[in-house]
Amino acid sequence: MAQIIVVTSGKGGVGKTTSSAAIATGLALKGKKTVVIDFDIGLRNLDLIMGCERRVVYDFVNVINGEANLNQALIKDKRCDNLFILPASQTRDKDALTKEGVGQVLSDLAKTFEYIVCDSPAGIEAGAMMALYYADMAIVTTNPEVSSVRDSDRILGILQSKSKRAEENLEPIQELLLLTRYSPKRVKTGEMLSVDDVNEILAIPLVGVIPESQSVLKASNSGVPVILDQDSDAGLAYSDAVDRILGENVPLALQLK
Ligand SMILES: Nc1ncnc2c1ncn2[C@@H]1O[C@H](COP(=O)(O)OP(=O)(O)O)[C@@H](O)[C@H]1O
Ligand SMILES: [Mg+2]
Repeated sequence: MAQIIVVTSGKGGVGKTTSSAAIATGLALKGKKTVVIDFDIGLRNLDLIMGCERRVVYDFVNVINGEANLNQALIKDKRCDNLFILPASQTRDKDALTKEGVGQVLSDLAKTFEYIVCDSPAGIEAGAMMALYYADMAIVTTNPEVSSVRDSDRILGILQSKSKRAEENLEPIQELLLLTRYSPKRVKTGEMLSVDDVNEILAIPLVGVIPESQSVLKASNSGVPVILDQDSDAGLAYSDAVDRILGENVPLALQLK
């Protein structure tokens, strides 16, 4: 059975695509056959961060519309054997993702993949709803600031009421908090909320704390997921988060407490 993981947030620009690329790569490095899907129709950020933008021929919407099959649209990552990318289309038609179409693609992917990572667009409109609807696990990506925490809280409400699991009265989506762009220095000066502050408001288990880091920009500019930079604090923090997703008990790095 494939696990469907949505990387979601409500607010834009918090690090969902960065995290989707890092987590999918991390799962593949752990030997798990993984596909990462870009649900952000019209923007197409994921293939840039994964460094495969020049190889995009067909996309998610082509597959849903029957214009290409999955084999034609999936891009095999050049660094990790177990990793594939399903890119977003550049169409302006935000309604291109239908519930039936997305469901069909996910169930086809579930036949061969262990993990399906869904990179959600921002907001709570159709694309974001599609990205979370079929999820088994949600990585609620949050920056340590009030507006981001508030939007994450709203997404928690949606996960609990509008997902397939909620509609069908199944076991709820497993919700995990990923704090990103965390700066211990700015927490000390009171400019940012602390891990404990955010934990108290959202009250869901913490899967990771990713520090604010120059290495993230460097990585995305060169099309290399930051988790592959194991000399960087952010890369190491994503590795720890992946271990926790896989059920390991990894303590939080001291400098992030
Ligand atoms: N840990 C981090 N440290 C520094 N910059 C980050 C970090 N995470 C994300 N960013 C930057 O924040 C911006 C938004 O990230 P992105 O992953 O595209 O967010 P989203 O997908 O939620 O819109 C990008 O410029 C990215 O490089
Ligand atoms: Mg994004």
